[in-house]
Amino acid sequence: SLPTPTKIKLDQIDPAVVKLRKAGETDAEKGTRVRVFGRVHRFRNQKGVVFVTLRDGYGFMQCILTGDLAKTYDTLTLTRETSMEIVGEMREVPEGAHAPDNRELHADYFRVLPHGKAPGGEDAITNMVQAKADPQTLLDRRHLTLRGETASAVMFVRDAVEFAFHQVYKEVRCRKVSPPALVQTQVEGGATLFKFDYYGEPAFLTQSSQLYLETCLPSMGDVYCIEKSFRAEKSLTRRHLSEYTHVEAELDFITFDDLLVHLEEVMCRVLELTMADPKIAALIKEMNPDFQIPQRPFMRIKYSEAIDWLIEHEIPNEDGHPHTFGDDIAEAAERRMTDMINRPIFLTHFPVEIKAFYMQKDPEDKRVTESVDCLMPGVGEIVGGSMRMFDYEELMAAYEREGIDPKPYYWYIDQRKYGSSPHGGYGLGLERFLAWLCKQHTVRDCCLYPRYMGRCTP
Ligand code: 4AD
Repeated sequence: SLPTPTKIKLDQIDPAVVKLRKAGETDAEKGTRVRVFGRVHRFRNQKGVVFVTLRDGYGFMQCILTGDLAKTYDTLTLTRETSMEIVGEMREVPEGAHAPDNRELHADYFRVLPHGKAPGGEDAITNMVQAKADPQTLLDRRHLTLRGETASAVMFVRDAVEFAFHQVYKEVRCRKVSPPALVQTQVEGGATLFKFDYYGEPAFLTQSSQLYLETCLPSMGDVYCIEKSFRAEKSLTRRHLSEYTHVEAELDFITFDDLLVHLEEVMCRVLELTMADPKIAALIKEMNPDFQIPQRPFMRIKYSEAIDWLIEHEIPNEDGHPHTFGDDIAEAAERRMTDMINRPIFLTHFPVEIKAFYMQKDPEDKRVTESVDCLMPGVGEIVGGSMRMFDYEELMAAYEREGIDPKPYYWYIDQRKYGSSPHGGYGLGLERFLAWLCKQHTVRDCCLYPRYMGRCTP
């Protein structure tokens, strides 16, 4: 009788265990017996031998059905995505043959799980996720396209990157907090607020947790959060979502330069930890073969220098005119500049008028703020940060200038009353970071179920 097979995940097989025992031993022909569960990723029938590649979210395994197993009704009507259990023996792949992770399972038993059979014919998964289907149809079928190799590779990298952020924030001694998503204050301007009725009172979905993070500094020291932010973006671009994952941190008793050094450290350490996992590194290399962890320090360019650079390179502003000081550098111009320079850039010292109310002015040039955008080739801005105004009077004047009623911000203003301090922070768009790292054309492919104007399904 055969020993009971052990149940395993497809990536849990140590290649050393898989090797056939050396010839000469009594059971030399026997390898390790395993039982695997998964879905049929692909299969082919080659001269009466059926090769099934199973997928379980941890890995792929080539399983070989021969003899009677290759002739059953279930084998002959097999379809992709069908859930199966396969039991058999691990063997080395014959010389010249290829299989995922260089291993294969020779089956002596299998079954299709109850309710596990996927449809064939018109409803077959291959018809549902055809690359030539129009993008909207594919997005309607995101629950199925997610099963594809590239879509899931991005999700694997996302999981690793998010975990790395948590690790790195521990390295730099930031505490994690979880600010509210339902709020009554704006952070980044009224134009992109999602408004809703909160028991009869007006409220918004948060645009950023920044203001709440600032209130944590006195009790918790440096803090971070990884939460959703919401923006009612009315334009459809490849880097804007209505709901995105926002990695934000806030640091106390720092200078603007400290903020930039911290940002470089966090981003580079996250990339180092992510790339230290050989499986994740292999996925990234496949999607983005030229990827290299950026050198520190990043290039630093002041906004005013960027304007000069854009004029020199004849890159016009949104109205088609040469840029002038005070212009918002639009997405297209920003991307062209970043792609031409082709390395990470800290773009700093934006004019007061084009930045949010809370930003600290540069003591050496009051026209500009101690602010930073981190720009990456291929994507453009992935981080926005600044020092925060910490003078009470100055903040009140800023509300006035921006026409914002300060009343709902009483708790934010109180921070300037009870022991104010020089502090600053930033927000990083996780989907944009991933679009850059995985060389994806759009942030929509870097989240599980993208939300943008016109899409809230599935
Ligand atoms: O530059 P933003 O608007 O800055 C803030 O929200 C600050 N309050 C953050 C802070 O200092 N704690 O947004 C920060 C980042 C952007 O650089 C971008 O990566 C991302 O958030 N982001 C978006 N990502 C996807 N879709 C959108 N609609 C986004 N809006 C901003």
